[in-house]
Amino acid sequence: MSKKIFSGVQPTGNLHLGNYLGAIKNFVNLQKDEKNNCIYCVVDLHAITVKQDPKTLKKNIRETTAAFLASGLDPKKSIIFNQSMVPSHSEGAWLLGCIARMGWLNRMTQFKEKAGKDKEKASVGLYIYPILMASDILLYDATHVPVGEDQKQHLELTRDIAQKFNSDFNCPGFLIPPEPLIQENFSRIMSLKDGTKKMSKSDPSDQSRINMSDEKDQIINKIKKAKTDSAELPESDENLNKRPELINLYGIFSSLQNQSLNSTINEFKGKNFSDFKNKLAEVLVEKICPISNEINKLLKDKKYIDEVLASGSVLAEKIARKKVEDIKQKIGF
Ligand code: AMP
Ligand code: TRP
Repeated sequence: MSKKIFSGVQPTGNLHLGNYLGAIKNFVNLQKDEKNNCIYCVVDLHAITVKQDPKTLKKNIRETTAAFLASGLDPKKSIIFNQSMVPSHSEGAWLLGCIARMGWLNRMTQFKEKAGKDKEKASVGLYIYPILMASDILLYDATHVPVGEDQKQHLELTRDIAQKFNSDFNCPGFLIPPEPLIQENFSRIMSLKDGTKKMSKSDPSDQSRINMSDEKDQIINKIKKAKTDSAELPESDENLNKRPELINLYGIFSSLQNQSLNSTINEFKGKNFSDFKNKLAEVLVEKICPISNEINKLLKDKKYIDEVLASGSVLAEKIARKKVEDIKQKIGF
């Protein structure tokens, strides 16, 4: 069956291995199947839900686009664009915001995490962020949305909005409740400093993550210093969940090598931690450095990147506009 794929990544800098293994690698695999219709968006309107410096934002939009291209997304095969160039997303968010319920938004754990202790000081945009995300997805009739596990709850909200709209306006099947596509294994890449915390752009310690722009020496150094326990490398997967740092490093290795956790366990049983870490660093350098080199090369040609976004936006706006008009008609405008 052909799938309509939509996904987005925020241009907030420091794209890291979690973004790559949890999302972007999957975007590229989906693009490989010619039956799929893929749309990938740099969600810059989502980025401004927290304060952004204008110059840095512009730089980050180009960097995220360069990371998409360097990882293998091809503007001839997929629509690649940025959200702020397609006004229908914001309009759709308003229309759908009148369908979503306060109670639904109040359950969103990402808002609670990002707003922190002082909720009153968070932007209203941060609170209604999942409605804009629903608009992104529903305007394209996306059937499948590849995301990391942390976005599952937002996808459920998108499904609820679609179903309520269809039922309120008596138009079954009009808005399509999308399916999340979440990596089955190793769906959450954790911090290199704490195996119980997600690898994240916002972690103040750069040692906690492998950035897509890291160079060879930085990668080797970060893996050397990555937290581990003092037990031996495992003989089997028994009790592994008591060793969060090890399971994370084994997960990263398995994911990069496209192999199962058990194959990794067998490959390293009886060996030393340093053997494993050396091999992991080697594989990371092999996979990440070509991408980071390509990102740097692409960033030298800003005009090309801007052109990719501009032509992608024209294609996206055409699809999204049509759906917004249909939604407005159902509402009674
Ligand atoms: P964001 O940078 O928050 O826009 O995330 C972009 C994509 O990367 C989303 O699909 C996230 O779910 C995914 N992602 C972010 N951090 C991680 C992580 N540590 N492990 C797996 N996926 C992640
Ligand atoms: N909220 C997503 C994140 O933080 C980014 C995003 C915005 C998105 N709109 C989307 C992802 C639509 C998938 C589909 O990662």
